[in-house]
Amino acid sequence: MKKPIGIFDSGVGGLTVYKAIRESFPEEDLVYFGDTARVPYGPKSENTVIEYSVQNSRFLLQAGIKILIVACNTSSAVALDHLKQLTEIPIIGVIQPGAELAAQQTVNQRIGVIGTEGTIRSGAYTRAITEILPGAQVFSQACPLFVPFVEEGWVSGSTAKEVVAEYLSFYQGLDIDTLVLGCTHYPLLKGLIGEMMGEKVTLVDSAEAITGYLGSLLPREYDGTAGTDRFFVSDNEAKFAQIAERILGRKPGQLRRVRLFESWFAD
Ligand code: DGL
Repeated sequence: MKKPIGIFDSGVGGLTVYKAIRESFPEEDLVYFGDTARVPYGPKSENTVIEYSVQNSRFLLQAGIKILIVACNTSSAVALDHLKQLTEIPIIGVIQPGAELAAQQTVNQRIGVIGTEGTIRSGAYTRAITEILPGAQVFSQACPLFVPFVEEGWVSGSTAKEVVAEYLSFYQGLDIDTLVLGCTHYPLLKGLIGEMMGEKVTLVDSAEAITGYLGSLLPREYDGTAGTDRFFVSDNEAKFAQIAERILGRKPGQLRRVRLFESWFAD
């Protein structure tokens, strides 16, 4: 029997990662969990994010998944080592693929990283990038207002533009040639971010970076059978469905609210 790939995020933003995976791997069965009851993870302490990430992973492991994708940058930044203690299956976070892509793209080795407070505070991207490129200079900036703006659907227009410009003014004069969008929600602001940073700066989308990684773990045996999608959230299915439709361009099919700690996939 085909085993599914599990993907979790703090909420709806990880659907950018889900979407990239669905497009690249149409045959795979996917199970997505969005922790909408406890989002956002970005401003929370490391211990709390680890605890939540462990619970989310345990839930998905009950579905018999073959690979666990940690779509949330904040979780990937602080919880990956803890999650690896839960299971033998491969666990992929978004930081390493994003760092590798940034290291490949940069020419002048001056790289910007934007993310949540938790991701930036952890220094995870800086560590991952400088491990690959020891001479690189990494300039990190937390952009906490980007998440609520995306959730509101404010990804264009003058107010969003002003907020994006304010945060990204940090990069004026720093001469970066690459900027990592180190948060699930930021690909949805790509248009505005690209406009502010100008053509000389390459944007690295960690959602896209992960598909190459996943490809190296999966045998490509597409027999024409489309994979299935199951979505689970810890709160407010209606709001999730609404934002999901904006991100995916369609309604999420099978969607249900679950309470963690229940045995959902036991026989
Ligand atoms: N999913 C989070 C991330 O990628 C953003 C939203 C949150 O703060 O929970 O870091």
